[in-house]
Amino acid sequence: MTLLFLEPSTRTSSSFAAAMQRLGGAVNHFTPATSSTVKGESLEDTVRCLQSYSDVLVVRHPEAGAAARVAATVDLANTESSQMLQPLDMLHRVDSDKQGDCASSQRALPHGQCVVMNAGDGAGEHPTQALVDVFTMLCEITDRKQPRLLPLWRFERLSGFTVTLLGDMKFGRTTHSLAQALGTVAGANSKDGDKEPALTVVYVAPSELAMPTDIITAAAAAATAGADAKANTKTKTNAKCDAVAASSPNGVTVSGLCQRIADISALTSAPKKGVPCLLAQTDVLYVTRVQKERFPSEDAWQQYQQSVSTTAASSSASAVAASQAAASSSSGYCITPELLKQGEAKPTLRVLHPLPRVDEVPPALEATEPLRAAYMRQMRWGLYLRMALIAEALGATDEIEALYARAMGQAE
Ligand code: ASP
Ligand code: CP
Repeated sequence: MTLLFLEPSTRTSSSFAAAMQRLGGAVNHFTPATSSTVKGESLEDTVRCLQSYSDVLVVRHPEAGAAARVAATVDLANTESSQMLQPLDMLHRVDSDKQGDCASSQRALPHGQCVVMNAGDGAGEHPTQALVDVFTMLCEITDRKQPRLLPLWRFERLSGFTVTLLGDMKFGRTTHSLAQALGTVAGANSKDGDKEPALTVVYVAPSELAMPTDIITAAAAAATAGADAKANTKTKTNAKCDAVAASSPNGVTVSGLCQRIADISALTSAPKKGVPCLLAQTDVLYVTRVQKERFPSEDAWQQYQQSVSTTAASSSASAVAASQAAASSSSGYCITPELLKQGEAKPTLRVLHPLPRVDEVPPALEATEPLRAAYMRQMRWGLYLRMALIAEALGATDEIEALYARAMGQAE
């Protein structure tokens, strides 16, 4: 596996590396500063080089769409390689088999072929993080409707849940991928004639950082595709209408997915007497930091900071805790233990965060509410998820399961 990271990372790069090593593979850490990119080599040429030595290429890049460019380059190289290089790759294969090479990929993947994984492309997407996030939700669910009885991988574990996404939805690529992944989950859980949505997703962002309408549209489309896959049908979604309707008080439901846009103040203040506030309705609170590095200029960032402090100062008395927390945070929102108490959060509520954090989730939260603070365990779930993902992508799942069964047998 080669880690082609052209942007900083702690979790994604380290968990991919650890996952590959645990599966018996090797890892090449590409270092931009000492590579030929400093001589002006293009992304495409760099990729053509690295794919020659890799079964898996994991790419992180500051531009949205870069991962698709990498995948297109690797597709071309794979085709060429299968036509031109097969005899040599066969020799390599025999050689590695003789040595008992434990990189299962050498045997499972067609010779000389490489797969690409997007580890985050600018403000675009972060799809493996979304898989980690959904897996974390499945693993963390403890006691609602006895989901313990359902196997971990069954999406029904999340049936009827409300997932609230809080933070920078404009630039936050993890929220873009997660919204679509949750769409797929909702679609897979939807049943004809259901009165309640299979899943409700609420987007809460500072007004400058609202969820882009094309992502809301894509999430609705994912729900429809998920429902179609289950029922073996094909439906056409009126995508434009979905995005606009999400702003209405009840949001809009398409194929089991209800999407709704809410203000930060709605976290703790109820719309009407007798109606629980958003925090009280929420099962999973997914918090993200403001992506400062994506603001077009320092001026734009300063303007955002100014508007955050003005909004916090003028918030209504009913949202006093929210505004106090916001006033002390550079993000404009902050999930303190006091805020969860004021919002009467469910005892089962889990707080997730892709991390890194700035000040939107303070250390006091995990200190006082370790069970709720699932973001600390989310990193570990990410290791297992990425192990499964690599094994699946390399077609090595059966082989790894057999190795595991053998190891378990020896341990008994
Ligand atoms: N680490 C995540 C990302 O790379 C989230 C973040 O940086 O805020 O997208
Ligand atoms: N969650 C995540 O992508 O973290 P890093 O940016 O540290 O890789």
